[in-house]
Amino acid sequence: MKNFGQKSWMLPQPVLIIGTYNADGTPNAMNAAWGGQWDAREIMISMGAHATTENLDRCPDFTVAFATKHTMVAADYVGIVSAKDDPEKMQKTGWTATKAKHANAPVFTDFPMTLECRIVKKIDVSEEGYYIVAEILNILVDESYLDAEGRPDVDRMGLITYNPINHAYHALGQQVGKAFVDGKALK
Ligand SMILES: Cc1cc2nc3c(=O)[nH]c(=O)nc-3n(C[C@H](O)[C@H](O)[C@H](O)COP(=O)(O)O)c2cc1C
Repeated sequence: MKNFGQKSWMLPQPVLIIGTYNADGTPNAMNAAWGGQWDAREIMISMGAHATTENLDRCPDFTVAFATKHTMVAADYVGIVSAKDDPEKMQKTGWTATKAKHANAPVFTDFPMTLECRIVKKIDVSEEGYYIVAEILNILVDESYLDAEGRPDVDRMGLITYNPINHAYHALGQQVGKAFVDGKALK
């Protein structure tokens, strides 16, 4: 085994698109890899100091969409350009925004699946940002990504993950097993 010391190499990392409203009511989006499930109905995100952070200081609501192969280029773009520097930022994504029903935040309809969230706790608040714990108020799934039983069909969503070692995006592969089931073979 080779040692690499301390690095932010948790694998795999998600590609989360955080949707908020700017002060003028226009939608903004940013890319976040440092996030995940916190509790049964809560998620966490490690937020730096961004236009999104200022938006969240005004309003605790946001959306989280899961990036796909199809949205990858614009998903990366919203992670390298700030609305602080380019007020026209979102126009270049070509994404369509509607208003979420359960949160005061934009839903980008180009994504198969979106969480509507509200911050319940900010941890370690500083000028550099904070850690968000947020309640999942609702989950939206584009009906064309539902299976025969009406459940989200993850295999068909074309989701991507972030690889922090090579700064790369990878497509998620097909299902290879059944959780809580396949391990029983060794019981
Ligand atoms: C792959 C990738 C992952 C990122 N992950 C995070 C993250 O977890 N937390 C964070 O605060 N910023 C993260 N960023 C940076 C923000 O997305 C970036 O600063 C963005 O431009 C902020 O936009 P805004 O200022 O318009 O809100 C990431 C960027 C990329 C490209």
